Amino acid sequence: MVASLASTISSPDGPRAAGGWTVHLHASATSTNDLAAPLPGWHAVVADRQTGGRGRHRRSWVSDQGGLWLSAVLPTPGPAADWAILPLAAGWALRSALADLGVTDTRLRWPNDLMVGPAKLAGILVERFRADTAVVGLGLNLLNQPETHDPALAGQTVRLADLIAPVPVRSVVLDAILERLAHAQRLIADRSVADLLPTLNTAWTGARVAIEIDGRPAPLTGRLSAVDATGRLQLDADDGTRHHLSPLQVARLREIL
Ligand code: BTN
Repeated sequence: MVASLASTISSPDGPRAAGGWTVHLHASATSTNDLAAPLPGWHAVVADRQTGGRGRHRRSWVSDQGGLWLSAVLPTPGPAADWAILPLAAGWALRSALADLGVTDTRLRWPNDLMVGPAKLAGILVERFRADTAVVGLGLNLLNQPETHDPALAGQTVRLADLIAPVPVRSVVLDAILERLAHAQRLIADRSVADLLPTLNTAWTGARVAIEIDGRPAPLTGRLSAVDATGRLQLDADDGTRHHLSPLQVARLREIL
């Protein structure tokens, strides 16, 4: 619960409250992450659609009407290194929020893609524009139709509408996610993030993966065995070696299903 925080949400029509957050609603945005960049902690931006939505590794992110396109600004007090785990914790928060809503058959693909089987339900892009905050950009397919807008996504995406009926309204999903993000923020700020690791590790441990690393000619293949409290990935490679990789080293991670 985030009851200790003040509650307001604002939109073109005025503020709306949600568990301590101030949420700015827009009909359209280039990228909600850019609108959120200058905002203080506990503000969030939601757009009905994005015209320049972006994903990790400079990929574009299809953000058509009917999805949840959210950027939540979290305060990041203390040393920057403490917050290296945030992208993973955000994945945990998203997965937990959906479980709270009855969607339980999701898994995480490292570092924070939310998957159902081989299909992607949601993605997260954490960006730091200021030293005292982090923007957690989160795209979740609800009722939208990403494949219609990008046929290359055929078979690769899944929506909440494919998983549960009736689909909760966007504001309910939003509130559940913001509550869990606040929870994740508290755990990191309180240096209690180790509490998350067992759950996080069960969300992906054992996946067989091929990892492309900048400057290395061939991908490393092996099994993910854990992540540590700094967000580093432990890979037990097929050649018997063990690697600890920071998210910044990983150019691409492909699952071998
Ligand atoms: C990924 O899986 O590569 C991350 C996708 C993140 C998309 C979200 S949608 C809201 C926010 N605004 C953006 O431009 N990107 C993030």
